[in-house]
Amino acid sequence: MKEKIGLYIHIPFCKQKCIYCAFTSFCNENKNIEPYFNKLKQELNFHKKEIKNKVISSIFIGGGTPSFVDADFIYDLLCFIKANFNVQKNAEISIEGNPDSINTQKAIAWKKAGINRVSVGLQSIDDKTLQKLNRPHTKKDFVTAIKCLKEVGFTNINADILIGLFNQTPESIKRTIKFLSDQNLTHISSYGIMVEEGTPLHKLVKNKEIILPDEDKAVSLYNIAVNELKKHGYNRYEISNFCKSGFECKHNLNYWHRGEFLGVGLSAYSFLNKTHFENTKSLKEYLEKTYEKKNIERETSTTAKEEFIMLSLRLEEGLDIKKYNTLFHEDFLKRFAKQINKLEQSKLITFENNKMKITNFEVSNMIISEFF
Ligand SMILES: C[S@@+](CC[C@H](N)C(=O)[O-])C[C@H]1O[C@@H](n2cnc3c(N)ncnc32)[C@H](O)[C@@H]1O
Ligand code: SF4
Repeated sequence: MKEKIGLYIHIPFCKQKCIYCAFTSFCNENKNIEPYFNKLKQELNFHKKEIKNKVISSIFIGGGTPSFVDADFIYDLLCFIKANFNVQKNAEISIEGNPDSINTQKAIAWKKAGINRVSVGLQSIDDKTLQKLNRPHTKKDFVTAIKCLKEVGFTNINADILIGLFNQTPESIKRTIKFLSDQNLTHISSYGIMVEEGTPLHKLVKNKEIILPDEDKAVSLYNIAVNELKKHGYNRYEISNFCKSGFECKHNLNYWHRGEFLGVGLSAYSFLNKTHFENTKSLKEYLEKTYEKKNIERETSTTAKEEFIMLSLRLEEGLDIKKYNTLFHEDFLKRFAKQINKLEQSKLITFENNKMKITNFEVSNMIISEFF
């Protein structure tokens, strides 16, 4: 049987730049959209030999804002991939979009291209907050986008929201989750806002022009979100990811399970044949130079173990002890007896069906760091 891999495609174009965003994305680069898609095909050809014996079981078109570009580019690229690579028949194919750039014509083209999952960036249902974040849409745009996706036949839809924003209260979180539940979405990603260096938000927070909730308040808001999501039938399967039963994102699960994946496009990261590598973040370099892999790092048994522990403990299902023992030829319980004893006494971890789980995700970083 052929080995399965995920394929990530980065589309680095946006209408405007949100004040908190440190992802590789550009506005005012529309003239480079077509050359970029041509380059993506060249890069995919570069990797052809390497993945010819593998089958692509999921594709994630992320960004940036993939919905911002003409849907013909997406359709053409997916046709190219299906014609040149082994794509599993029932592969999960996701695309990310912003509410203002999703419309019926694009949704029809995406469906025709085989896309079966759409992730929509909402972030907040408060229009004033959206404006302050420099988001290019309103709450009403989101409702329109979801309606149009459903009319075209999309049944697996995610919304991204941010927790820890200014003016967020327990009540506003409850209203947000109720609103999303009323939209009958299958998946909700709820990310704690990160203040990334170099972003306008970083400067605004530093100058006290924007005051964000302190850590304790942010944690309490996150816990309220978790409870509300649960009440509305969204079960957590990863620290920040919640879904209706059976709608886990297969592409991300493969990543958390340390499956192989190829990332193409600017800043994309890959894990193939026990090797990590990444792409340039420079649009000019990507468009002008012949493609080359960057920062190639062959995994060592230490990095592999650390990654396995870190990624597994982010998951609700926890760390598979049998899998660890088989992969790394050592007894997990013996190797980490001291740490496990300490964490078990503090009731921070629990064991179920040969899996070790975190009981309190609020302190997940501290728990994970115990193993390094
Ligand atoms: C990079 S965006 C791409 C999708 C789309 N352009 C959007 O804005 O929704 C993917 C997700 O990353 C999350 N994100 C971006 N910057 C973040 C930050 N500084 N802190 C937390 N989450 C962030 C947002 O929730 C966003 O929905
Ligand atoms: S739309 Fe998404 S990718 Fe673009 S700047 Fe905003 S958060 Fe970043």
